[in-house]
Amino acid sequence: PLPEPFQVPLPIPPVKKPVRTGAGADYYRVVQQKASVEILPGLKTEILGYDGLLPGPTFDVRSGRTTVIEQVNRLDVPTAVHLHGGHTPAASDGWPLDLLMPPGGHEGHSGHHTMTGGDVKTGSRRYTYPNTQRAATLWYHDHRMDYTAPQVYRGLFGFHLVRDDEEDRLPLPAGDRELPLVIADRAFAEDGSFLYPQAKDRPGVESAYMEGVIADVTLVNGAPWPVHEVAAVRYRLRILNAANARRYELAFDKGPAKFVQIGSDGGLLDAPIEHDTLVIAPAERFDVIVDFSQYQPGDEVTLVNKLDGDTNVLRFKVARKAADDTRIPARLSTYAVVPEPAGIVRRKWKFSRGDAGGHKGWTINGKAFDPEVMQAQVKLDQYELWSFVTDVHHPVHVHLAPFQVLSRGGGGIGAYDAGWKDTVDVRPAEVVDVLVKFTAHKGKYLIHCHNLEHEDMAMMAGFETI
Ligand code: C2O
Ligand code: CU
Repeated sequence: PLPEPFQVPLPIPPVKKPVRTGAGADYYRVVQQKASVEILPGLKTEILGYDGLLPGPTFDVRSGRTTVIEQVNRLDVPTAVHLHGGHTPAASDGWPLDLLMPPGGHEGHSGHHTMTGGDVKTGSRRYTYPNTQRAATLWYHDHRMDYTAPQVYRGLFGFHLVRDDEEDRLPLPAGDRELPLVIADRAFAEDGSFLYPQAKDRPGVESAYMEGVIADVTLVNGAPWPVHEVAAVRYRLRILNAANARRYELAFDKGPAKFVQIGSDGGLLDAPIEHDTLVIAPAERFDVIVDFSQYQPGDEVTLVNKLDGDTNVLRFKVARKAADDTRIPARLSTYAVVPEPAGIVRRKWKFSRGDAGGHKGWTINGKAFDPEVMQAQVKLDQYELWSFVTDVHHPVHVHLAPFQVLSRGGGGIGAYDAGWKDTVDVRPAEVVDVLVKFTAHKGKYLIHCHNLEHEDMAMMAGFETI
């Protein structure tokens, strides 16, 4: 039996403290470990957690200051950590075969790829993030070859917030009026353990779940349909969809609150955009302001998912009136809107189901992921025009650099495409054109579908920046 909604208070993941602070860098240590936690009231769930937490601790860092994280693996499975949205050197980007092995060996690996070919470390590994990027809501998660989906499902994800002076100067809600919200669906067995339909004899899921794993319990910051008390003032919500495959169309069950979007995956928009509902695909982030002064103390307002018959997500209880000196400036940030340069390099990335060559899974440009094959060599410091082409719905993610959406379906951009994105939801049989430019780091990077079951079933391609 599922728990009653709105009984559990919204948890806020703890902010991680550095073990040491140097001139230009902060040093952290994270232990990846199993933990038995109470997610559903009265039951215990075994998770895989960064520091044993679901979600993991939040990194709250400054743009331009390096974050060095020693990750220690005390699990019984290999891992790889990726900072999603990070401008990260290849050696720290979490290439799926750059594995961090648990010290005492691990469960048998039955992948369709060998464990070799990556930079494998045992016990612990250092990841270095220069944070050479604008303020933005990033997140980190597992990226192990063939097993990203089950390992993220079991808890290996968390926030990494980059802040900068430009954003600090804005009169936005802050402190406990700034809420990181990570939404994810999970399924549980009677005894409280996670139910994930892992295939028995191979990576990936049972064939009934080819489209991706959708589950019946909505967790926000790791709690089922939680409740949060707010004052009748503006709040900043940093919303992340960390579901393996589910999309949400978030709406308030009663007006008049709207979502005023101030930022996207890659940080502030140039100007705010008002939305009645917010469609968010796996791995996307929306940074929004919600004005609860439009409600009275005692009111309850519930965030629901319209894509699933107005099902519950999170309830806010408006507790009291309070002073509010925040504002949403008409101009948030200035960044170049990139023109489509003449003679630009164009590339097409086709995302489709593939049954060719004995591979039953998902492909990019007709190929299953092969870590030995780079599908493109991309020069640093120049814009390229990339076209994402789909068969069914795929949230497309590019590592290393954000992009600007130029057009969708041959028309202008969609309602949710503004600003700098690193993940764009490409609908069935659609073409989305984006402009992207990679800088600073040469090496092997990934483009892939962020439906994690699609990703594990090979919908991923390597490209090399040169
Ligand atoms: Cu959020 Cu390649 O991942
Ligand atoms: Cu996909």
